[in-house]
Amino acid sequence: MADKKLGVWMVGGCGNVATTAILGLVGLQKQLAPTTGLVTELREFAALPLVPWGDLVVGGHDIREPNLRATAGRLANEQVVPRELVEACSSELEQIDASIKPGIAYKAGKAIRALADVPVDDDATTAPRELISRLQNDLKTFIEANDLRGLVVMNVASTEPPLEAELPDRWEAFDELLNQPGADIPASTLYAVAALELGLPFVNFTPSAGANFSAVEELTKRKKICHAGHDGKTGETLMKTVLAPLFAERNLEVLSWVGHNIFGNLDGRILDNPENRAAKVATKDRVVGGTLGYDPQTLVSIEYIESLGDWKTAWDHIHFRGFLGTLMTLQFTWQGCDSALAAPLVLDLVRLADVASRAGNVGALTPLAAFFKHPLGTDCHHFAKQHARLLDWVRVTSEQMAC
Ligand SMILES: NC(=O)c1ccc[n+]([C@@H]2O[C@H](COP(=O)([O-])OP(=O)(O)OC[C@H]3O[C@@H](n4cnc5c(N)ncnc54)[C@H](O)[C@@H]3O)[C@@H](O)[C@H]2O)c1
Repeated sequence: MADKKLGVWMVGGCGNVATTAILGLVGLQKQLAPTTGLVTELREFAALPLVPWGDLVVGGHDIREPNLRATAGRLANEQVVPRELVEACSSELEQIDASIKPGIAYKAGKAIRALADVPVDDDATTAPRELISRLQNDLKTFIEANDLRGLVVMNVASTEPPLEAELPDRWEAFDELLNQPGADIPASTLYAVAALELGLPFVNFTPSAGANFSAVEELTKRKKICHAGHDGKTGETLMKTVLAPLFAERNLEVLSWVGHNIFGNLDGRILDNPENRAAKVATKDRVVGGTLGYDPQTLVSIEYIESLGDWKTAWDHIHFRGFLGTLMTLQFTWQGCDSALAAPLVLDLVRLADVASRAGNVGALTPLAAFFKHPLGTDCHHFAKQHARLLDWVRVTSEQMAC
């Protein structure tokens, strides 16, 4: 058991975030990549029994034909990743393509279904349970073929539109609905259920619904397994959760907070669709009020500007009131490379979800809130408090696992 490796299953395995994470992982395995950006490489994490980079094996699902080498080459052209690293890791990337299987796009919305170049199932006549069984077969086959001790399933697929239907609160009724052809349950949730039913941890790095249902939370309790989410906190929202406490803790009144985001990658193209964008705006927008304890006027815009590729610019304008009613303004500009910010967090979350699962943590992993825009199981958006909570968990879990 101790010698067996751990699988990482990327849902959306051909995308920019997945490709950058996979390239980074191969680079770490070949000792060609530095550890900058990886939270789990900080010295505070040294006592945690984290899986070594060399013990991770990658597979995944996507609805597009995999070609990790070509995607990494494009990312090198955009100066997201170093070209020499792509060249040095080419053969590994080509091999991983064979472990990326055709995914599902059930109830994932028009924009996502239009991306698919693998056959997708009919939204009206397919029963979700059939799709879950197919996904589970792929997961089990991968575990067996690689003689793995387990698998962490990581959702880095495109953002689905928000769900409109009300779903049952209890697992039994939810489970019954899964047998109903055309039931309104999105692909991200079917991936989550597929993993959790097999007792595999599920991490949702996207704003899609995934495991965010009380019925699915009940499933995690029944299966004694953990999950984490949702929507990775990498750039502008990270800044918001660092800066909003400044206003709260100095008793300064925020009157309005406006954030304009422009970027041009495939994620941006999908988010250019109003229904998909609504899910992202919701997770980006709620952090300000959540930290301040009141709701100033807020506006979040996301615009697709093709020429920018993976490079996102966010401009935030914060209007606030100080002593004796004096009005002031803070503005900042964030120019981040989306995939380079997200990829190390994806690798960190794989390691942390694995430790949490081995330590017997069950349900939503609230200690991992610092990684997410809308952390499950907690309302705390305050980045410093979230990070302190993470370090507490690291200390307690390290002690527990050392016994
Ligand atoms: N980059 C960041 O900083 C960041 C931060 C937080 C969240 N995210 C989220 O991470 C996700 C991935 O971002 P990205 O830039 O890699 O996007 P991307 O568009 O490059 O990649 C998404 C991949 O998912 C695939 N896909 C779509 N639906 C699928 C399905 N149902 N099953 C399997 N595969 C599917 C697509 O074919 C594509 O290869 C997005 O939801 C994004 O909002 C990214």
